[in-house]
Amino acid sequence: MCGIIGYIGLRQAQPILLNCLGRLEYRGYDSCGIAVSEHGINVCKDAIRVEALKKTMPRLDGTAGIGHTRWATHGEPSPINAHPHLDCSGKIAVVHNGIITNYQNLRDQLSGEGHQFVSETDTEVIPHLIEKYYNGNLETAVAAALNDIEGSYAIIVLATDEPKLVAARKDSPIIISLGDRENFIASDVPAILDYSNRVVYLEDGDIGVITTDSIKVSRRGNEVAVKVHQISWTVEDAQKAGYEHFMLKEIHEQPKVIRDTLAGWVSGEALEDLATMWGDDINALLILACGTSYHAALIGKQIGQELLKIPVRAELASEFNYSTQPLARTLAIAITQSGETADTLKAMKKLKEVGCQALAITNVVGSTASRIADRTLYTRAGPEISVAATKSFTAQLMVLYQLMMSHPEIGARRLNSMTKELRQLPNKVQQVLDNEGEIAQYARELSQYENIFYIGRGINFPVALEGALKLKEISYIHGEGYAAGELKHGPFALLGSDTPVIALLAQDDTYEPMLTNIKEVKARGSPIIALTREGDEDIEKIVDKVLTVPQVEAIFSPVVNTIALQLLAYYAAREKGCPIDFPRNLAKSVTVE
Ligand code: F6R
Repeated sequence: MCGIIGYIGLRQAQPILLNCLGRLEYRGYDSCGIAVSEHGINVCKDAIRVEALKKTMPRLDGTAGIGHTRWATHGEPSPINAHPHLDCSGKIAVVHNGIITNYQNLRDQLSGEGHQFVSETDTEVIPHLIEKYYNGNLETAVAAALNDIEGSYAIIVLATDEPKLVAARKDSPIIISLGDRENFIASDVPAILDYSNRVVYLEDGDIGVITTDSIKVSRRGNEVAVKVHQISWTVEDAQKAGYEHFMLKEIHEQPKVIRDTLAGWVSGEALEDLATMWGDDINALLILACGTSYHAALIGKQIGQELLKIPVRAELASEFNYSTQPLARTLAIAITQSGETADTLKAMKKLKEVGCQALAITNVVGSTASRIADRTLYTRAGPEISVAATKSFTAQLMVLYQLMMSHPEIGARRLNSMTKELRQLPNKVQQVLDNEGEIAQYARELSQYENIFYIGRGINFPVALEGALKLKEISYIHGEGYAAGELKHGPFALLGSDTPVIALLAQDDTYEPMLTNIKEVKARGSPIIALTREGDEDIEKIVDKVLTVPQVEAIFSPVVNTIALQLLAYYAAREKGCPIDFPRNLAKSVTVE
């Protein structure tokens, strides 16, 4: 939930660290800080955003340093609780992402040994433990300290007495990146794209050491050969490209994301490869995810139920972890944009323990999910910086369509007609984007309300959930996604002229019951906006407003409908002046349970 960065080289560390921290803010942004080493460690940190820190902090000289941008877990956002944290001597500084679960015991023990703590964080025990074990070799001291620690961590350690940075990980992501006579350590690839596209992924339990000219990785005490990966993401991918917000840029990238994620399918290469996922022994599917990815999972369940002849379940990873279920002959699919969501990773580990085949659908090459999984399918969404997921969701749907369509029992006719529709999707999505002006107008009107319902049935019920999540997350308006047929079982009590309802329609057997539900809502006095295909004249007579999307086969309606709802949420939030890319209390990558 936090972003960490380390730099060592020939250049001044301060501007580089601040620049990288700016790129990591999507991981947490309630406070930030850096430490730079030159004849001693100088720290500057505060409960402000990186841009503000840049303006207020003094110049810190030195060519080695570490930085942190925080999403608070232990202790409120404050200058004292912000990282980096120091030992008693002020010679060892640490930045940390994760949670130390036994920190209270360690803190009591270290306090008894004379160590003094200043913050409320779990992290502060780490520099004190390293200090306790330091005997002239930082790497050995870090390894000894980690032996005492329980929980999850990605850490970077800076010490005045040694010209190096030491990094370690357990259940939290970290990479080393190679430059020219300079090296970096970071939570994530977007942090370092301005400087390098060559990275090394650390495994759980690894300790990495970087100097200006070298990198070394040790596993269980033995040095291992490093594998350098070339990253295809560019700096431009991780910048706003003239858009006011990352979210708007990412919404607009979706035609390209669809094309990129479907490239293998359209060229015919992907079908054969995907078909190998379906071993003869598979007779059930279980899809697991959290948040927006869970909504993609629910849509995946609907696609699977329509196309396959085997049972398909979708579950919240955070709930699955506390349930017992039959998993024999089940192919488990974990969907996670970041590949680092703690609940999803825990579910994947549980699946592996019981011998289930686990397939990951993720956007991040080398992410933890991809390493736990037996197989990985990558979404080609490029870096998603805005906290609210948009293009990654659409890319996940593209992978799910292809995966389900690759099942050997899908008939050639169905396969061909769906492939034809898939090819047209980028253009259909572009038409939704071209209607941005009208959607923005509706959004401005909706931004005046405090509560808004989204209703749908069948494959559009998860779309209602996703539309509502997007709205509440970035505009702070209470959006409630509901199965249209369920309103009469309670929520009708909330309807009235001050509670608009957005009804999502698809051209399938849910259309008629939706009309009935819409009439029921109308009778309760709520303003109704229908989201439906172009030329749907029946609906115009019933509802207050109609927002149209291009006609697609019902199974693909979640794509065009969701993108319209993403724009609706975006413009409602913009109207309210909300910090769209960095909503309050949230972070992009949720690495705590
Ligand atoms: C909402 C959003 C979150 C994520 C969720 C899972 O816009 O982005 O709900 O979808 O935290 O994240 P991943 O997909 O990285 O596992």
